[in-house]
Amino acid sequence: MAKDASDTSRGPNHVAIIMDGNGRWAQQRGRPRLFGHHAGAKRVREIVEACPDLRVKYLTIFAFSTENWKRTQSEVSGLMKLFRRYIEREALALFKDGVRVRFIGDRVRLDPKLVSLMDTLEQSTKQNDKVHLTIALNYGARDEVTRAAQLMAIEIEEGRLFHKDVDAETLSKFLDTRFLPDPDLVIRTSGEARISNFLLWQSAYAEYEFIDTLWPDFTAAEFAQVLSGFGGRERRFGAVTAS
Ligand code: FPP
Repeated sequence: MAKDASDTSRGPNHVAIIMDGNGRWAQQRGRPRLFGHHAGAKRVREIVEACPDLRVKYLTIFAFSTENWKRTQSEVSGLMKLFRRYIEREALALFKDGVRVRFIGDRVRLDPKLVSLMDTLEQSTKQNDKVHLTIALNYGARDEVTRAAQLMAIEIEEGRLFHKDVDAETLSKFLDTRFLPDPDLVIRTSGEARISNFLLWQSAYAEYEFIDTLWPDFTAAEFAQVLSGFGGRERRFGAVTAS
């Protein structure tokens, strides 16, 4: 969406994180990759809890990509089990902390038991407004845009939408993220400088921070430090500021 030059005095309203480095963190300790994913899941709580003080209203985290199915069967099933356990164990704390949880990504390929837990968590936290946590699970930006285009095509075919009315705003309304503002800042841990098919449409004007720390070592203090670097930047969204 078009925006005016933003107020740079405040930190980012919406932070999106590519949580990378769990596998390497485990390998460095001579442990299996899933050990790293479990350590990574513990960090999620710390980072979510830090959001209100850091004035981060929206936090979106990349938990499982459409490409992650290519990992070994045991890693994939271990991750799926971890997501189920995370929801079961964290649901009450998230509710009490005023966190509204939503999921983005294609649910069709996910286990129905997991989908049911996701639905319940979304329902039970839907009145919350302190922090909006969005978990990307079986998410890929190209897949999301493709599904949005398919949904739009159906609307056109059935006469509810006219092709001349399709613009960027219309497309945004068909994306999984239709309820979210665009991210202001995208952070990727573990030293890799790639976007990996994450929020491609939504991050058109986002700032990026690629940091070396592996996700299981990423503390709330480091999160605060990364955000403090954001305030001083001028974001023009393609415009020119008058001098
Ligand atoms: C990338 O590290 C991480 C993932 C594919 C999974 C992310 C999952 C978590 C942080 C755990 C739990 C999340 C929730 C919401 C409960 P990698 O395995 O690619 O690490 P590597 O690059 O070092 O191999």
